Amino acid sequence: MTAGVALVTGANKGIGRAVARRLGLLGMTVYLGARDDGRGKAAEDDLRAEGLDARFLSLDVTDEHSVALAARSVADEAGRLDALVNNAGTGAPVRLPSATPLEEVRRTYETNVFGVITVTNAFLPLLRRSPAGRVVNISSLLGSITHAARRDDPSGVFPPGVFPAVLDYNTSKAALNAITVTYANELRGTGILVNACSPGFVATDINDHQGDLTPDEGARIPVLLATLGEDGPTAAFLGEDGTADGQVLAW
Ligand SMILES: NC(=O)c1ccc[n+]([C@@H]2O[C@H](COP(=O)([O-])OP(=O)(O)OC[C@H]3O[C@@H](n4cnc5c(N)ncnc54)[C@H](OP(=O)(O)O)[C@@H]3O)[C@@H](O)[C@H]2O)c1
Repeated sequence: MTAGVALVTGANKGIGRAVARRLGLLGMTVYLGARDDGRGKAAEDDLRAEGLDARFLSLDVTDEHSVALAARSVADEAGRLDALVNNAGTGAPVRLPSATPLEEVRRTYETNVFGVITVTNAFLPLLRRSPAGRVVNISSLLGSITHAARRDDPSGVFPPGVFPAVLDYNTSKAALNAITVTYANELRGTGILVNACSPGFVATDINDHQGDLTPDEGARIPVLLATLGEDGPTAAFLGEDGTADGQVLAW
């Protein structure tokens, strides 16, 4: 069992809910960040019915006031944070990059990029009070610039020509990868480890349930990174087959 306090953003459904459940099963107190009260409380009820210490936390990652209130309430109640899982994410309808309205790119960045910065900065003081703070950014293989640039390489991760060219989502996750390394470098030596992962292609609302993994399977790597030992990596990008001691994705 892992005692401790975790926060998962966007925890009312999909991968976030599955990550929260797995952390709860490990014995952690888990704050379920959700922007909608009804959906957040419903997830809390479900997980509490399984005997888990799950607590709905009102949190819209694009709203600085909401994030500040959420951080204050975790500070008052728990006094520290051991694991922050930046999971909340979104994407615009898929279009050619040249046909994507700038407004759609901005909207995706508000959640996937600026939201992560807002939440991380708000909760960093609480992570610093943990003996072993962990930050996990749920990125995507689609954020890998290396794999995108090798789109036509027959030995690439997708068949030649198949790597999708999605402007808002892919570049937001590439930015998230860079943000991950930037925070990891600031926090080296503090005991706080900051990593990114690609959970795999998971059947959730974000892809109309086309994915081939279940949310619980997609939760495996985020949970591994949220519960790393003190000798675990920082500034790493793990894929669905990742391991704490080496199997990493190209950025
Ligand atoms: N599914 C995959 O194959 C896959 C692959 C790679 C990476 N990912 C990443 O995994 C993460 C989770 O996605 P998912 O597949 O589980 O999709 P999902 O089922 O659509 O879940 C997305 C979650 O994010 C929440 N959210 C969106 N905007 C928010 C905001 N402004 N504030 C707070 N919460 C917000 C949603 O809340 P509402 O219910 O209120 O909308 C929902 O709880 C995302 O970062 C996604 O990019 C997914």
